[in-house]
Amino acid sequence: MAEFDKDTIANMRRSYGESGLSESEIDSNPIQQFRSWLKDAAENPIVIEANAMVLSTVVDSQPTSRTVLLKDVTEAGFTFFTNYNSAKSTAITGNEKVSLLFPWYPLERQVKILGSASKISDAESDAYFATRPWSSKIGAWASDQSAPLSSRTELESKWSEFAAKYPEGSEVPRPSHWGGFLVTPISIEFWQGRYSRLHDRIRYTKTGSEWKIQRIYP
Ligand SMILES: Cc1cc2nc3c(=O)[nH]c(=O)nc-3n(C[C@H](O)[C@H](O)[C@H](O)COP(=O)(O)O)c2cc1C
Repeated sequence: MAEFDKDTIANMRRSYGESGLSESEIDSNPIQQFRSWLKDAAENPIVIEANAMVLSTVVDSQPTSRTVLLKDVTEAGFTFFTNYNSAKSTAITGNEKVSLLFPWYPLERQVKILGSASKISDAESDAYFATRPWSSKIGAWASDQSAPLSSRTELESKWSEFAAKYPEGSEVPRPSHWGGFLVTPISIEFWQGRYSRLHDRIRYTKTGSEWKIQRIYP
């Protein structure tokens, strides 16, 4: 097999298409525009996990990123669920400013969001937790997310311990260390790949309760 060398990586590029993003066609509300693109991604079989987004947080000026799943989007913002003791949650406690990125490469699109994350209410987390499959609920109890783990066996035995405590079919309560965050956006940028690297970039910035729309250089 040919070596995957420096030049091979440097020469990886593709041409982008004709379909564009124009000021006359976009929604004046970025949440509606986002919903429309999320729908396109979700309905297109070449996009895997259309609701996967990269969440970046900052600790001591050091950014770090990981993928989480979008579970709701409303005028208030973008919701995901996680362990409240995890590294990302600790980071948010210290610095609420976060970035979200939806990389829909097969559609030559990305959406970049800047905003602030805050915990949603216990009632809202309870409501979502109740809809999860039993095995995922047990997983939430078993994982001390982001903490060191001595072996996979330790994780599996913790899972079995909670599976025995809350057998399938019984009501599994939400662990208090597990719940949702809402990211309230202040900036939402839509990127559409175009020919000759003349990509479309449209950024919505929140000023008061209004969204200002600005095209920016690619
Ligand atoms: C496709 C995908 C979806 C994921 N969804 C979630 C999620 O919704 N919530 C979550 O806590 N972790 C999710 N993860 C795992 C995170 O990326 C991460 O490993 C974990 O949350 C621990 O991150 P932290 O140590 O930075 O807190 C997902 C990973 C992938 C690859």
